Amino acid sequence: MEEDSTRFLESVLAEVLAHLEPPKDGRIRHDWSPGSLRKTTDLDLPLVGSGLERVLDDIRTYLRQAVRTDQPGFMNPLWGGLTPEGLAGELVTAATNTSMYTYEIAPLASLIETAVLDRMRQHLRMPHGAGTLTTGGSNGNLMGVLCARQAALPASGHDGFDGRSWCMFVSKEAHYSVAMAANVLGLGRANLIKVDTDDQGRMDPSALDDAIRREASLGRKPLCVVATSGTTVRGAFDPIDGLADVCEAHGVWLHVDAAWGGSCLFSSTHRHLMDGVERADSVCWDAHKMMGLPLVCSAFIVKRAEVLRAACAHGNEAHYLFHDDAEDQDLGRLSLQCGRRNDALKLFLAWRSRGDAGWGALVDRYMDLAAHLAERVRSEPHLELVGEPVWTNVCFRHVPEALPYLGEAIDAHNAALRAALLEEGRFMISRADLDQRVVLRSVIANPAVEASTLDDLVDHVLRLARTLPTDAGSQVEGPRT
Ligand SMILES: Cc1ncc(COP(=O)(O)O)c(C=O)c1O
Repeated sequence: MEEDSTRFLESVLAEVLAHLEPPKDGRIRHDWSPGSLRKTTDLDLPLVGSGLERVLDDIRTYLRQAVRTDQPGFMNPLWGGLTPEGLAGELVTAATNTSMYTYEIAPLASLIETAVLDRMRQHLRMPHGAGTLTTGGSNGNLMGVLCARQAALPASGHDGFDGRSWCMFVSKEAHYSVAMAANVLGLGRANLIKVDTDDQGRMDPSALDDAIRREASLGRKPLCVVATSGTTVRGAFDPIDGLADVCEAHGVWLHVDAAWGGSCLFSSTHRHLMDGVERADSVCWDAHKMMGLPLVCSAFIVKRAEVLRAACAHGNEAHYLFHDDAEDQDLGRLSLQCGRRNDALKLFLAWRSRGDAGWGALVDRYMDLAAHLAERVRSEPHLELVGEPVWTNVCFRHVPEALPYLGEAIDAHNAALRAALLEEGRFMISRADLDQRVVLRSVIANPAVEASTLDDLVDHVLRLARTLPTDAGSQVEGPRT
């Protein structure tokens, strides 16, 4: 590499490391509108470039406005924080830029990906099978349904199928990506049946059984049941054993969406949440969520390797890429992607550094922190815990004394409270609907979070809530999500 390029990259690394220091003003986010960002940032793509010095300035500008997802106050989505192994893995992956489709172009990377997937499969207690790293749980769910279709209708990949005569089942609290899978695979969202949950947000196996029978009586065949291990808002775990009984009785593929909750398998205390997962046909599990790897790092695992292989078959069209003599080594034959980055390395490095014991300790620590936050919420007279946490999702809301006990007014007040938190920029937690109420959802998935962070969060919520007009009805903006 040229000397200039080396100096440039050293400067970039120095900027990045400086950026990772805690923000001096304590803000993890600035409330800039798209209009003001556009005005204050040069977004022109020039006809003639102006060299690396300008690029360094652009990087500084970018870093200045970036939301500090590495900081403890970031508890908004189901991921966050930054680990040295994760960042190191990303750097090495980018520097050695390869594609995972063939062994010849990604030799050790292919072995590493296989090793990581095998280990995840062991935790799922699936001694046989295969898998692939995907772009995330959404894609993993799509692949689960695709494999279900492949298993039910082996010729469908070639001949197509009549999607409208099939249906699939999911809990009412499942992730929206399952609806997208129904769309993409040609069943249509109308043929995605949302099954009732119990008071803890878990799919009810007998309601599933009823739903399958009802749809069958209407002429729709069951293609797939998607169970969720760790729902997005509440963190509920569907009872896999009970659902597997129903799936076996009806001969239906069982896919488990463990994008968020899969990491419980590392903890001897909490792995019971996924009891029965070894009976599933396929599972997706995001390492970029609770395991803290940088986006993206997500596994899709299937019990019958031949189903995945057949689902990803494309005839002999890629004769320029895949050759028979390397069939067993080329991971591209188990993937829907062609070019695919090496997401396995960062996971491998983190696993080497921590071991199973380290992951287990991380999960247990997060669960303790979630219990701490739940306890703080319970102890505050004006905070209400919405649902008992079983995972690290803690949903709560503020109920001011002055407000009449009117659902809508309290909903509006909490929506305004969340907007005020966002504007203040010290904490990011999300707003969701749970049990027909607007709640604030905080999740513990960020290694930087400590008990003191959560105490601060509660103090901030209470302080900001006092600054809001109690008639908050006028402050609700936009539809609830
Ligand atoms: C339960 C569940 N499944 C799937 C997904 C989608 O995962 P990804 O964002 O990796 O596509 C999410 C995302 O939050 C989720 O909560």
